[in-house]
Amino acid sequence: MMEAGEKARYIVLFGPPGAGKGTQAKNVSKALDLPSVSTGEVFRWNLNNKTELGRSVEEFLSKGELVPDDLTIRMVRDTLDKPCYAKGVILDGFPRTLEQAAALAAIVSENDGRLQVIFIKVDENVLVERIMGRVVCRKCGKVYHRKYNPPPSPQAPCKAGGMHDLEQRKDDEEEIITNRIRVYNNQTAPLIDYFERGAYLTVVDGCLTIEEVSGAILDGLLEGTEAA
Ligand code: AP5
Repeated sequence: MMEAGEKARYIVLFGPPGAGKGTQAKNVSKALDLPSVSTGEVFRWNLNNKTELGRSVEEFLSKGELVPDDLTIRMVRDTLDKPCYAKGVILDGFPRTLEQAAALAAIVSENDGRLQVIFIKVDENVLVERIMGRVVCRKCGKVYHRKYNPPPSPQAPCKAGGMHDLEQRKDDEEEIITNRIRVYNNQTAPLIDYFERGAYLTVVDGCLTIEEVSGAILDGLLEGTEAA
């Protein structure tokens, strides 16, 4: 339940592939008791479960290209319409284009919410190493890094039952990673200016440890600018 006068919170975790958006979305979600939505995860779920949406997005994910705006915006709108997001949401991976940013601004305004954007800034040379070392549990979806956030021993239980079943993401191949970073620089990075102009943006150093970045994000959300 929302308190009287309380506004729905829309928190965007923004940054290049491998910056730590997904990792931080989980931590911030827990700390603020606010659900998170990862557009990449929703697309991958649909792909793995061979839904109509999954079939429509396959060619884009497999090349590291952006899914077209109309499909992405419709999916996000349908998701955020659900009652579980009435108090707000942490968005991981959305928006990535000016058209998506405008759609989000409309959603925030329709719901009389408030928007805050955290830019997790990481040097480009760190990104590939982060992504190449990432492993994900096929069963519970938990994300690890072989060096920086090592997976548990094979005997450790997975919360989905049995033991963890670790795999590398299909789009975590060097050629596709390079394209994802190129696409980010060309199509998504220009949003930094857009957010700055709207005074929504707080920049956080994403090269710190996972725990330090979480702390900086939570501090940034307390202190940072926010727009009605
Ligand atoms: P998506 O799944 O969003 O991929 P991405 O943006 O490329 O980001 P990643 O998931 O690779 O990285 P991350 O920033 O979440 O980092 P993570 O926390 O995992 O999108 C996939 C595809 O879906 C896109 O290519 C596109 O096709 C489509 N798509 C999605 N959204 C779309 C949209 N809005 N519009 C159109 N198309 C869209 O961390 C990476 C690794 O580093 C992990 O192993 C982690 O353990 C480790 N790590 C994290 N933080 C730290 C730290 N501080 N120190 C050391 N290691 C760390």
